[in-house]
Amino acid sequence: MNTREMFKRAIAGGYAIPAFNFNTMEQMQAIVMAAVETKSPVIMQVSKGARNYANATILRYMAEGAVAYAKELGCEHPEIVLHLDHGDSFELCKDCIDMGFSSVMIDGSSLPYEENIALAKKVVDYAHQFDVTVEAELGVLAGVEDEVSSAESHYTKPEEVIDFSTRTGCDSLAISIGTSHGAHKFTPEQCTLVNGVLVPPPLAFDILHEIEKKLPGFPIVLHGSSSVPMDEVNTINQFGGHLEAAIGIPEEQLREASKSAVCKINIDSDSRLAMTAAIRKHLAEHPGDFDPRQYLKPARENMKKMYIHKIVNVLGSNGKLAQ
Ligand code: G3H
Ligand code: 13P
Ligand code: ZN
Repeated sequence: MNTREMFKRAIAGGYAIPAFNFNTMEQMQAIVMAAVETKSPVIMQVSKGARNYANATILRYMAEGAVAYAKELGCEHPEIVLHLDHGDSFELCKDCIDMGFSSVMIDGSSLPYEENIALAKKVVDYAHQFDVTVEAELGVLAGVEDEVSSAESHYTKPEEVIDFSTRTGCDSLAISIGTSHGAHKFTPEQCTLVNGVLVPPPLAFDILHEIEKKLPGFPIVLHGSSSVPMDEVNTINQFGGHLEAAIGIPEEQLREASKSAVCKINIDSDSRLAMTAAIRKHLAEHPGDFDPRQYLKPARENMKKMYIHKIVNVLGSNGKLAQ
């Protein structure tokens, strides 16, 4: 299914739909198991990098398998969106639409404003012929190398959102309010030490609320929303990894955002951390194991636990299937 009804209900209900990236069968299985157990709608998203890694056709059929698997697990009416994450060209979006994706993102956020509009509109015009929904992006997500002050200059400008959404016809809008991709979203210098914990600067909720006022009821998307759980980072480091200064978005802030017009929250890095932590731990404790099933099983379990936690305790999408 596409995102249209899903987002309408999420905004009205004050929760957000999880958008989890997948590249492997274990991630796909964990996402489906978590969504079924919690009775949550879910967006399964595929990046260009995922298509290069796993093969576009295989991922497409894995998503079809995900729907069948959800039914096999006892969910009669699963709500699963297959979404292209960060499409960077019309051709890539078209390829995914032609392959049966129900939703695509065209990310022209690094382009000049008018070029971003022209590209997004071209994708929307094509996608809507097939009832495929389109996410576009306005504002640039900060990189960890940015100072907070320069990061602010990339925030979405509320005064542009009406013009952008009207002229592109996009179905949802990804905005920049202080989140960023990866496991190193902030430098320790950007954070404040509170009770021994590094607390990053808060998201720009004032900008989010201004955008909501300009576009009442319009679906807003947050990228870069992993929280980089310290226990997973510690496990990775305890068993031979070396992740320094890994800092994410505090979950309370994502919980707060979920109650607003933010109706899609993207999480990828937390899945990578959960998988890597479990694999490192297993192999360190069982040095003789070499069957991938031996270490991928706990990895899948750990990801499933993380997905369930996000759905139930952060986004609030549990029990929100229409039927
Ligand atoms: O926002 C990007 C996603 O985390 C996907 O990452 O391009 O490495 O697959 P990727
Ligand atoms: P994280 O790196 O914070 O998980 O963000 C993922 C994302 O935005 C995918 O589009
Ligand atoms: Zn993203």
